[in-house]
Amino acid sequence: MSLFLKCIKGIPVERPPVWFMRQAGRYLPEYKNTRRKAGSFLNLCYNSDLATEVTLQPIEKFGFDAAILFADILLILDGLGVNVQFVEGQGPLLDPIKSKADIQKIKNIEKIHLKLSPVYDTVKKLKSELPAEIPLIGFAGAPWTLATYLINGKGQQGSVTAKKFLVENNEEFEEIINLLTEATIEYLIMQIKAGADVIKIFDSWAGALNADMVRRYSLDPINRIVSRVKSLYPDIPFIVFPRSVNTTYSDFCEIKQFDVLAVDQFLDRKWIAEKLQPKKIIQGNLDPLFLTQRGDILLKELKNVTKDFKNYPYVFNLGHGITPDAKVENVSLVVDYIKGLKF
Ligand code: CP3
Repeated sequence: MSLFLKCIKGIPVERPPVWFMRQAGRYLPEYKNTRRKAGSFLNLCYNSDLATEVTLQPIEKFGFDAAILFADILLILDGLGVNVQFVEGQGPLLDPIKSKADIQKIKNIEKIHLKLSPVYDTVKKLKSELPAEIPLIGFAGAPWTLATYLINGKGQQGSVTAKKFLVENNEEFEEIINLLTEATIEYLIMQIKAGADVIKIFDSWAGALNADMVRRYSLDPINRIVSRVKSLYPDIPFIVFPRSVNTTYSDFCEIKQFDVLAVDQFLDRKWIAEKLQPKKIIQGNLDPLFLTQRGDILLKELKNVTKDFKNYPYVFNLGHGITPDAKVENVSLVVDYIKGLKF
């Protein structure tokens, strides 16, 4: 079994595995070339040859211990029939869904597979091209984070709009969350059937909710997704990333169904090590900012992070996605440093 799978299944390993959120992305000249060839971000996501190519680029260049499928969390909304676009310099733009009549338009969950079949093809291609020791991570956005884009129609202020909607139109909001939960279950099952070895769920905007709302609209739907998929595929490990949920990370540790809890860079590492690590395998939480800095500054922070987390199984990663201004040589520095560790 690969180092990464061993670690996240709780089997002792000699060092932490390492991979990065957004490891295929705009900080890499190779990515920018392929992206140009594709013409647009969505073309890249829906072209399984090119999506395979960009998924493999950081694996070949740096030697990460896991690959993450190249796609986007918003594709499932496109699959449901919401017209999703990525506008240069503006981020995602989609047709907002708010009323009962709008919800009616996206109720046909089975429909997602038509649009998303190239994603399943990418998973298949990757499984045939990746070395056996590099597992493939499939993923989906959590229902709440998807809802922030769906309800607001664009990225900016999405969580504010969606949170108001949650309070003011709770019945419609819950219908949206339930629908997204069911669609995500279908989507993940197809990724696993195509060959994904691990699944990660991104709740990037969970931190906009208060603690009661986190439990009800982040944790609960995620728990439902993991439980349902695991009832069919009990051996597929799940990584859950409820970003910036502060002390409610503790509540996520009580959920037995998933395997790894990914933590953001704002959470105190001493608190994580004391309160969370004894209960869950932790992934994170280097501040991506350090990848834009001088090598000696980065190295100092790397030492701090790995020292604080050294007493339990741990997956090295960032607290959020790598930024386009990260230095390529810093990514090599991190991977080489982690590969040289003895835990
Ligand atoms: O390497 C990987 O991590 C795999 C691919 C991946 C992408 N997005 C590629 C991408 C993954 C796992 C995601 C997840 C994703 N997408 C999240 C959750 C993680 C997080 O960052 O919080 C979210 C919220 C999205 C939605 C999204 N996608 C936004 C808001 C944007 C625009 C803002 C931006 O960063 O440009 C994207 C675009 C996007 N997704 C890019 C990449 C490489 C950049 C687009 C480009 O090449 O032009």
